[in-house]
Amino acid sequence: VKTQLLIPAAGLGVRLGAEGPKALVPLAGKPMLAHTLERFRPLGLIPAAIVLIAPEHRALFETALDAAFPGMALRLVPGGAERQESVANGLAALDADTEIVVIHDAARPFVATASIQASIEAAAEFGAATVAIPSVDTILEGDADAFLTATPDRTRLWACQTPQTFRTEVIREAHRRARADGFLGTDDASLVRRIGGPVKLVHGTRLNMKLTTPDDRRLAELIAGGQFV
Ligand code: CTP
Ligand code: MG
Repeated sequence: VKTQLLIPAAGLGVRLGAEGPKALVPLAGKPMLAHTLERFRPLGLIPAAIVLIAPEHRALFETALDAAFPGMALRLVPGGAERQESVANGLAALDADTEIVVIHDAARPFVATASIQASIEAAAEFGAATVAIPSVDTILEGDADAFLTATPDRTRLWACQTPQTFRTEVIREAHRRARADGFLGTDDASLVRRIGGPVKLVHGTRLNMKLTTPDDRRLAELIAGGQFV
């Protein structure tokens, strides 16, 4: 089954507050994006990968990827203003014979290769899958004035991660319908669910966190450098 990797990396990293693009922030001397892609090497998914980028950063990404993966012609495709648009551009750029698409944020460099593999198997069986972890925190719903409105039963709550993995026709249809309805989501599995498709939840790991803030960056530096076990 032909499987292709899409990496949304077109965000600006406002909350991280780095100098350049967040995906190229160095961790242990190597760009975050290179760490992320390495997790897909055992599955053979690096060479045909498509990376969504902000067009103004093309030269920076080309230089970084040439250094990290010499001779592998990864494709850089312009993303959009919102993550959903970036993914849509990636879906439009897939090879014609791609049957399974793995969508994984550049901002999660510590994903376990076993989670990726499990998401691919679940997508092949059910059409759509997302990696997620049962919430360890009690999640509070609050109102605009920061008063508690509800405390949903934690035993049913999962924290969403990536990869989110799909049969190609499933995620294309979900994006088509979201666009037609003017619906903007923060992930792709939700677009499948909102049109009634099944989405399998695949257990991830706590280390597969999304690097968002300066604190996350400092922690990631320790993990990437092997000073954290
Ligand atoms: N992303 C993208 N296109 C966008 C926005 C986000 O491809 N228009 C990607 C980011 O590059 C990242 C992932 O989606 O890999 C998750 O987004 P997030 O963690 O929010 O990263 P940023 O949007 O870059 O950060 P911030 O929201 O702090 O600006
Ligand atoms: Mg963002």
